[in-house]
Amino acid sequence: MNTTPGRSTIAEAAISVRRTGPLSGQVKVPGAKNSVLKLMAASLMTDGTTHLSNVPGIVDVEIMSELLTALGMRIETLSPGVMSLTNTGAITPVAPYELVEKIRASINVLGPLLARFGHVRLALPGGDDFGARPIDMHIAGLEAMGATFKISHGDVEAFADRLHGADIAFDFPSVGATENIVMAAVLADGVTRINNAAREPEIIDLCEFLIAMGAQILGVGTARLEIIGVGRDDLRPVSHVTIPDRIQAATYMAAVAVAGGEILITDARRDHMEVVLTRFGDMGCQIDSVEGGLRVSANERLRSTDVATLPYPGIATDYKPLMITMLSVAEGVSIVTENLYPGRFRYVEELQRLGADIRTSGHHAVVRGVPRLSGAPVRAHDIRAGAAMVVAGLAAEGETTISGIHHIDRGYEDLVGRLASVGAEITRIDPG
Ligand code: EPU
Repeated sequence: MNTTPGRSTIAEAAISVRRTGPLSGQVKVPGAKNSVLKLMAASLMTDGTTHLSNVPGIVDVEIMSELLTALGMRIETLSPGVMSLTNTGAITPVAPYELVEKIRASINVLGPLLARFGHVRLALPGGDDFGARPIDMHIAGLEAMGATFKISHGDVEAFADRLHGADIAFDFPSVGATENIVMAAVLADGVTRINNAAREPEIIDLCEFLIAMGAQILGVGTARLEIIGVGRDDLRPVSHVTIPDRIQAATYMAAVAVAGGEILITDARRDHMEVVLTRFGDMGCQIDSVEGGLRVSANERLRSTDVATLPYPGIATDYKPLMITMLSVAEGVSIVTENLYPGRFRYVEELQRLGADIRTSGHHAVVRGVPRLSGAPVRAHDIRAGAAMVVAGLAAEGETTISGIHHIDRGYEDLVGRLASVGAEITRIDPG
């Protein structure tokens, strides 16, 4: 404990950000969190050493590494962003609560472990701050493929001597359930058809990784996937480059949108972000495709627009905190509708502390743009809300201090360094 008179200590890390003039320069988008975590889980499906590159330096990757190590994998970082995952087949398919509760993507080991080892015991993953996140669709899909489930003492346990193909129709295109069923179906007997499958770029990345391993998957990128089961010996480990993170790319766009200026976002992929980029354009951002990425500029006050979140190719719920932040300083009134996680509005209270004029009712928010926010201490409640607080700080007079930044560290590789490199007045304050 620091006892020096007049010097305050902070108990947790925080980010301090100040309203910053036009940004300029170049930022590289790291690999996608929501892709790499699934690719790591999929490496359980084959013996040998898988190599992944463009692996983001984020805490969720560390936690997933710990989880896979606890299951029996050997994981090494060969160089920054390059990871090897070795599976000797000596896997204990039991995932401990201490690790599962830290990371929602731990549910992605369910399909691979069940298909490969016929048994899995996994602590039930917890919710996020934005609400309950059930796994009923994962379970129903695997049951249709012949698995039996037992849920007791906070664990979900699944058994299947051999999974078989099935016709599965989702009520809703769940990302995680699509991924788990695809991975399980790769090693099942016969053909599995998934109707109303999710088709996010991260799912395409997973399918391409599995196909390179030897899987047979048709309809990749569509809502109707057909997976023809193969034998364990048909799969082999591969080297794969993770796709860039579209949500991180949007974060740097949102930063320019509220601070003004022009930056080049290298590795950002327009084809992964068509709809959200149209909406950024409606708000007054100029986005041009250039070699190696997207050039983004914003030179006038943003304009209001209505936004509704939807599964891909619609506007992802993960963009919403950024968009509400942008709209809170735009000219006019916007209506934002959340269709995936009704409770995902908690950060609105934090934006209100910064002077934003937002009213929520059910799964809608009415955002009346104000010319400027005013800096204050705020808290990050989840990964995306945390990044939105940082962006809000760029539009707020004076200093904004964001606590709870362990959430940001889960999904953002050096957000502070990247924003500072394009001229933002931002620092990380570590406890001491
Ligand atoms: N749902 C069910 N039952 C299920 C599965 C999902 O009711 O069995 C519901 C959920 O409660 C939610 C909706 O379906 O209301 C969408 O859930 P989905 O399964 O599609 O999401 P997820 O796989 O749990 C991933 C991302 C999230 C992102 C969502 C939606 C990962 C690790 N997480 O979650 O990302 O918000 O898709 O796009 O891939 C983040 O990165 O910060 C994050 C939260």
